[in-house]
Amino acid sequence: MNKPGHIAIIMDGNGRWAAKRGLPRLAGHRAGTENLRRVIRAAVKFGIPYLTIYAFSTENWGRPTDEVQGLMHILEDVIDKELTELHEQGVRLRHIGRLEQLPGALREKVERAMEITRDNSRLTLCIAWNYGGRDEIVHAIQHMLQDGIQPAEVNEALISQYLFTAGVPDPDMIIRTSGEMRISNFLIWQAAYAEWYVTPVLWPDFDEEELAKALVSYGKRERRFGRLSDCAEGNSTDAA
Ligand code: IPE
Ligand code: IPE
Ligand code: MG
Repeated sequence: MNKPGHIAIIMDGNGRWAAKRGLPRLAGHRAGTENLRRVIRAAVKFGIPYLTIYAFSTENWGRPTDEVQGLMHILEDVIDKELTELHEQGVRLRHIGRLEQLPGALREKVERAMEITRDNSRLTLCIAWNYGGRDEIVHAIQHMLQDGIQPAEVNEALISQYLFTAGVPDPDMIIRTSGEMRISNFLIWQAAYAEWYVTPVLWPDFDEEELAKALVSYGKRERRFGRLSDCAEGNSTDAA
């Protein structure tokens, strides 16, 4: 069965999970974080080499201050509590997005975590935090201009190298939990040929079994990349 080399997840539905239980939104975010640990373990178990998680978007700054601050604390907490286990599991941490806009202490923690895990190769976990797909493209263009790139040198491969995800293969499958069918500014360049999997399950409930279902769905897909199916009639390379 075909297995995705890179799964990217829009971890959505924490707020609704909490509301259903009469709990504050931050309780949903904490439950979502607990779940992340389970999903990382499952990804390691299933032999997925790249996992990207969308945890805080450039638009999420527009939420109430206490929720934003709470989310920043949760990230700090996760690094403090989980780094050792992640390192032991062979997880390499990478951040995608703008680090410079994060509180100083948090930024240092993220940088340290990336440094400690840099030689791990079992699973590369890209954390999209203060990430926006459009912002990523703006950032890339600014850096290309700074580097004096000439118009004729610009091609798709070069643009990919200037994105936060440089060196990471494009996602094969993007999962969005909680049923929303939109991209919400996630990996807009890299998602060009990703397979989508949307489930109504809310993120804190998306467990190993749910991930396994997504993998089964992926395994049944036929990715054509604009070409014709190998077994489709008339699919001949000399047809043109
Ligand atoms: C996703 O859950 C986590 C973040 C965006 C930080 P939400 O907080 O968006 O949960 P809902 O969509 O309100 O249920
Ligand atoms: C996308 O979820 C961002 C993250 C999961 C971090 P949102 O809840 O912010 O997206 P919208 O507002 O429903 O599009
Ligand atoms: Mg949401």
